[in-house]
Amino acid sequence: MIEESLDEKGKKKKKEYFISVCTSSKACKKRASKYVWERCCNEHNRENFEEESFEDGNLHFRQSQCMGLCKQGPNVKVSEDEEGKDASIFSWMNPIKIAKLLKRLKSGNDPKDIKNF
Ligand code: FES
Repeated sequence: MIEESLDEKGKKKKKEYFISVCTSSKACKKRASKYVWERCCNEHNRENFEEESFEDGNLHFRQSQCMGLCKQGPNVKVSEDEEGKDASIFSWMNPIKIAKLLKRLKSGNDPKDIKNF
């Protein structure tokens, strides 16, 4: 039996996504990961770019430490749980790519299915 989670109005509940942007380590920072973070903030009407984390609906954002993929940075990790298990990593990110990724997630695309954007 497939279990669907429904909200209080009986509508299908959106999946929760935890989105980590590597900003605090040298490699991603050198490649301007702060602009990736700032775009996340802008897309969600956050004015304080210094926040470590914030959430908007089903999307949970946080600045993170090195993910061990420095040569491909800036990196963004998307997972369905807070611990980041079974996460999808998106490399070579920039403000345009993160905006497209967020749009795809909001449209209901599974991060595992998002390849080209
Ligand atoms: S500095 Fe970002 S993955 Fe290592």
